[in-house]
Amino acid sequence: MKFVVLQLFLCRFVYNVMSSDKSHHRCNFLKESCICRKDQVTLLFAVDCSRLRIKEIPKLPNIIEELSFMENKIQVIPDQAFYNLTNLLKLDLSNNEIYELKNLSFKGLTNLRSLNLQNNRLDASMANLNIHVLKPLENLISLNIKQNLFGNFQPNLTLLVSLRSLGMDFNSNDTGKISESFYSMKTLRELDLSGLTGNCSVRSLTNESFKYIPQIEHLSLSGCRIKHINKGTFQQLKNISTLNISNNTCLKFEVLENVTYDLQFSAIKVLKFNKIHKVFDMNTMLRTSQIKYLTNTSIKEMHGDSNRLQQIEIGALLFLPKTLDYVSARDNQFSYGPYLWDMLRISLKMFNISHMFTFHREDEHPEKCSYDIVCKKEPATESKMKYSMENSDQTFQATPLPIPHQLTSLNYSSCHLHYSILAYNLTKNNLRNVDLSNNLLTSWIGPIYNVKNLKYLDLSSNFCSNVSNFFFSKDFGRLEELYLQNNILGYSLPYDNKGNILQNLTHLKTINLSQNKIQRLSKDFFKFQLKIERIDLSENTFESIDFDIGHLKCLKYLNLKNNRISYLSASAILQLVYIGNLNHNFKIDLSQNDFLCTCETINFVQWLVSTTVKLIGKKSYTCQLSDLTLVPIENIDEFYDTLSKDCLSKIPIIVALVASVSSVLIIICSGLIYRYRWKLRYAYYMIKIRSHKKMVLVENDDDKSYMYGAFVSYADEDGTFVHKQLLTKLEKEHGILLCLHKRNFLPGNDIATNITSAIHNSRKTIIIMSRNFLKSYWCMFEYNMARMESIYERSHENVLFLIFIDQMKSKELPLHILELVQSQSYIEYPNDEYGDTVFWDQITQVLSS
Ligand SMILES: *[C@@H]1O[C@H](CO)[C@@H](O)[C@H](O)[C@H]1NC(C)=O
Ligand SMILES: *[C@@H]1O[C@H](CO)[C@@H](O)[C@H](O)[C@H]1NC(C)=O
Ligand SMILES: *[C@@H]1O[C@H](CO)[C@@H](O)[C@H](O)[C@H]1NC(C)=O
Ligand SMILES: *[C@@H]1O[C@H](CO)[C@@H](O)[C@H](O)[C@H]1NC(C)=O
Ligand SMILES: *[C@@H]1O[C@H](CO)[C@@H](O)[C@H](O)[C@H]1NC(C)=O
Ligand SMILES: *[C@@H]1O[C@H](CO)[C@@H](O)[C@H](O)[C@H]1NC(C)=O
Ligand SMILES: *[C@@H]1O[C@H](CO)[C@@H](O)[C@H](O)[C@H]1NC(C)=O
Ligand SMILES: *[C@@H]1O[C@H](CO)[C@@H](O)[C@H](O)[C@H]1NC(C)=O
Ligand SMILES: *[C@@H]1O[C@H](CO)[C@@H](O)[C@H](O)[C@H]1NC(C)=O
Ligand SMILES: *[C@@H]1O[C@H](CO)[C@@H](O)[C@H](O)[C@H]1NC(C)=O
Ligand SMILES: *[C@@H]1O[C@H](CO)[C@@H](O)[C@H](O)[C@H]1NC(C)=O
Ligand SMILES: *[C@@H]1O[C@H](CO)[C@@H](O)[C@H](O)[C@H]1NC(C)=O
Repeated sequence: MKFVVLQLFLCRFVYNVMSSDKSHHRCNFLKESCICRKDQVTLLFAVDCSRLRIKEIPKLPNIIEELSFMENKIQVIPDQAFYNLTNLLKLDLSNNEIYELKNLSFKGLTNLRSLNLQNNRLDASMANLNIHVLKPLENLISLNIKQNLFGNFQPNLTLLVSLRSLGMDFNSNDTGKISESFYSMKTLRELDLSGLTGNCSVRSLTNESFKYIPQIEHLSLSGCRIKHINKGTFQQLKNISTLNISNNTCLKFEVLENVTYDLQFSAIKVLKFNKIHKVFDMNTMLRTSQIKYLTNTSIKEMHGDSNRLQQIEIGALLFLPKTLDYVSARDNQFSYGPYLWDMLRISLKMFNISHMFTFHREDEHPEKCSYDIVCKKEPATESKMKYSMENSDQTFQATPLPIPHQLTSLNYSSCHLHYSILAYNLTKNNLRNVDLSNNLLTSWIGPIYNVKNLKYLDLSSNFCSNVSNFFFSKDFGRLEELYLQNNILGYSLPYDNKGNILQNLTHLKTINLSQNKIQRLSKDFFKFQLKIERIDLSENTFESIDFDIGHLKCLKYLNLKNNRISYLSASAILQLVYIGNLNHNFKIDLSQNDFLCTCETINFVQWLVSTTVKLIGKKSYTCQLSDLTLVPIENIDEFYDTLSKDCLSKIPIIVALVASVSSVLIIICSGLIYRYRWKLRYAYYMIKIRSHKKMVLVENDDDKSYMYGAFVSYADEDGTFVHKQLLTKLEKEHGILLCLHKRNFLPGNDIATNITSAIHNSRKTIIIMSRNFLKSYWCMFEYNMARMESIYERSHENVLFLIFIDQMKSKELPLHILELVQSQSYIEYPNDEYGDTVFWDQITQVLSS
């Protein structure tokens, strides 16, 4: 224990000493305001004289290990400027105006390891960097002479016998060549020709380009405006380990074949070919031929960013060697394709495909290429199609989607994916979390199969307006969290009347549907979500709760914030109360709604006041009165009393109003019924007859069809006249078949039906009018029925025939009979010999006409 503390203390002590002594301060041994930093171990100084407008190199003591004159105005380095600085290891003279070096400029720098002369005006014609000048630097390891006025010139650096790393410009209007003098630089391993940090412009590279540097291990050719790389260019570089040909936008993908061909027997470890396409070239496809030569190498890393890569030829990836650990393919445009199946069989540790479909601007100074791929048909579409056809045999609809077996979490958010999600069947997988938010997956058709372990799905912010009834297949049985907020599902969810969309999400615990412009959900929308705990429907346009929630026994939280709910219906309240009783933690958020507090919503208001259900943000609830004033629901208690009084005082008025309206209605109805009583009765019996005796009844437009010549309606008191005289005269003498109730009515049928049927089946109805007739209920019934028959069945044809057997004054007759008497035929029974004959003749004439 003590030991540890001591050690900590010591560390702290050493750290303090070092940091205080390493802190920067002015160098007291120089008159220029350079900054010195003393190395505590070597007791030597690192001197920074950068950006001080220095024109001449001052006299320096040999106590310096690092020296920087970066960005000054030095023009000439005189003889012996650094004489005796045997301790100096690193010298930076970059970004000055040096145009002249002397034979003895670097004399004395016998231990210098690193020299930077970048961006000066050293001129090839003056041969400044000649063999004599550099001769003293026998221990130099790293040299940078980029951005001088060399043009094509490559200095003879053979005397730098320790040089390992060299940065220089590389220019040629035609084929770039590293000069012969490099051949003797046995120690050179790293050559940085990159145009990104210097000047590099080479039209083409051939087998002549690097033939004098077979020893090289790291070669950077990025940004060199290369147009062609012929086969053979790198074939001598057997020890090459890192090759960078990035940022040569005219090369295009085709060049990879030439490059990888040369590398097949090399020691290549890292190959970088970022951005060998222009920003607005056609999308590309990586072909087998372009990478197959790498299969026997022990390559570890490949970089192919920003190449508009969209597809990979089937099988191509299988040529990648097992040694490959890391592939970077950022900023490409990969699309779905059969090549994805090959991904299952390669052993990558890291794969970076981020920044897909990011926004691009054209390069500021785009290269001029001899050709740019503007529009070129991908010849591989054929094989692609063939492949997908072969595969489609097994799964007819669902497109198979390869997912690495071990993958548990997939984050595909913000990738500018713009698709309709159609039917997909994922390969065997272990996916638990999938985030597809913030894309443009505007339509979810599905079904999606084989997501049996999925627990978390985020599809929010996708502008989706359409989700099909079968999108969530039965394989979603384990899904617990579903985030669908910020879409436009209000266009499809309200039409799901049976809860089909969420049907198979039986384990769902959380659903977020906020910001979806939903106006309503059907009663059964959550029918199958028996385990649901949280429902978020905030920021929609709900006006009421129409969907059932009473069965959601686990529900803990219902968010209806910021909707348009003015009040809740009795059944909704009932369900909330029920859940509240089941679940004492149940919370509901109803803030930012436009409640109404009127007599009609009093039950709702009462519930708000008294409920034990926790109302989130209750303090902020307001309520609009019938006079449009807004009242905070906090004061609801006092307010609720006045409201309920208001409603009470209105009740008697309402009762009276209802009563009077209904009595008026009753009066009108009974009047109408009375007015049409005979018509109604007639209609009633006619219907009854028709339904009972369809066969007996025959259509009336045919004369012969009447069963009887006449139906005789008479009072029982006048029976003698009818049975004796009428029957004898008409039936026996003239053969007119009569219908008499005593004789012809069917027993068993009720009398009214019999009467109506008899009238209907007789050509005429004879009324034996007498005072007794007027008194008899059934006679008057017969009379009225006959009248109705004539009006409604025989279209006003005269059916009634009146025989007055009593002498009656018109006063004695009811008005409606008198009316008939005046408009229609009647006859009086004379009761004398001669009159009788005329009387009977008249009757028979009427009845047989
Ligand atoms: C170099 O150092 C030696 C002794 O260390 C000294 O005698 C000589 O004068 C120095 N030369 C210059 C040019 O500083
Ligand atoms: C530099 O040294 C070489 C050989 O030692 C000599 O020929 C040349 O004249 C010298 N240049 C100057 C400027 O002294
Ligand atoms: C090097 O490139 C710069 C621009 O990056 C240019 O101004 C300069 O002329 C070039 N020099 C040579 C020697 O090509
Ligand atoms: C190469 O370009 C330079 C200008 O940069 C020009 O002077 C020279 O003639 C060109 N050489 C060839 C062979 O085209
Ligand atoms: C480079 O310099 C060395 C040593 O002076 C010489 O032997 C060689 O021939 C030179 N190479 C070229 C290409 O000039
Ligand atoms: C380069 O290729 C050409 C033919 O393309 C051949 O004649 C020449 O010998 C090759 N050079 C080397 C160094 O391989
Ligand atoms: C390549 O490296 C090996 C081992 O490091 C070495 O023996 C061989 O000479 C090198 N080849 C060249 C051309 O430098
Ligand atoms: C590949 O090399 C061949 C000959 O070696 C050459 O004709 C072709 O242009 C090269 N391809 C590219 C893209 O440079
Ligand atoms: C390769 O080129 C890229 C530019 O595309 C650059 O960022 C990277 O540092 C270069 N790597 C090497 C090893 O030169
Ligand atoms: C590629 O080169 C262009 C200039 O030609 C430069 O603007 C860009 O930053 C380079 N890209 C990378 C990735 O280095
Ligand atoms: C999905 O693919 C699996 C095999 O990966 C298969 O067993 C299953 O039947 C497929 N399901 C459908 C609906 O196509
Ligand atoms: C839900 O699963 C059942 C079988 O369990 C299936 O018949 C039904 O089609 C599925 N619903 C959806 C929307 O896929």
